Amino acid sequence: MSDNLFSIRSATDVPAALTHVLAGARHVVVFTGAGISAESGIPTFRDGKGSLWKQFDAKTLATPEAFRENPAMVWGWYEYRRAAIGQAQPNGAHLAVAQLARHVAKLDLITQNVDDLHERAGSPDVTHLHGRLDRARCQDCGLGWEHACTTPDMPRDDAPVPPPRCTRCGGPIRPGVVWFGEALPQHDWLRAMQAAEQCDVLISIGTSSMVYPAAELPHRARTQGARVIQVNPAPTPMDAVCDFNLRGDAGVVMPAVLAALQARQRAPG
Ligand code: APR
Repeated sequence: MSDNLFSIRSATDVPAALTHVLAGARHVVVFTGAGISAESGIPTFRDGKGSLWKQFDAKTLATPEAFRENPAMVWGWYEYRRAAIGQAQPNGAHLAVAQLARHVAKLDLITQNVDDLHERAGSPDVTHLHGRLDRARCQDCGLGWEHACTTPDMPRDDAPVPPPRCTRCGGPIRPGVVWFGEALPQHDWLRAMQAAEQCDVLISIGTSSMVYPAAELPHRARTQGARVIQVNPAPTPMDAVCDFNLRGDAGVVMPAVLAALQARQRAPG
């Protein structure tokens, strides 16, 4: 087993060197992907047969062209995902990340996820690099659109639902997510890059580290000398890059990391 790989089931499995790094951290960045919401019942995109891109074709559902060609199918599919997220609850990993912010000097939370489980877990200021499903807008004039309800009735996953119309220009309302081929929201991306370049510890949780430019962030942090911690039950391209590779489900690993840090901070001397 390579020396940066640790299997984590409880706080006692958390290496002392890791809690030492966290306890002394000046600025921590937490970077999350779909894996952190997996234990809340939200499917990931690429791992396991239930993952979204194994079930559905990204090209016909998650591109601006797909929305132009078949707006009702695309809107319907995102309403299906919004309903699933509305029925889900934050898990132990979301809660641990929210608490961690109170145990380190400074913490920036950057996510690729379009769900609001971090916010519902108590994390106030989350940077969403790939948008948010609860923030729709007009495709044509960009006017924001308030969903009638936070949790729509669960449509079938393939039921076409015509998108609502913009009250200003009559254009179709689109989901507030970043589709393949679209640029990331400039302000959020610049903020994320700056945080990655200024932090001294970056924790990457539940991402396959394959989708750029977001996947660049841990490398940027590493290049400028930060310690990189990865939490994932499976190998990723980050394995060789990170200082601590914590194998396990985020809902188990993150509460264990938090408990180990708290124990260290309570310890006399
Ligand atoms: N805890 C931690 N990690 C987990 C868990 C878990 N319980 N379950 C699965 N994982 C890991 C998987 O091993 C995988 O490496 O989460 C990762 C999920 O990877 P992806 O499905 O590729 O999701 P993500 O990395 O967030 O995708 C990036 O791609 O499709 C686009 O815009 C979409 O934001 C998304 C981006």
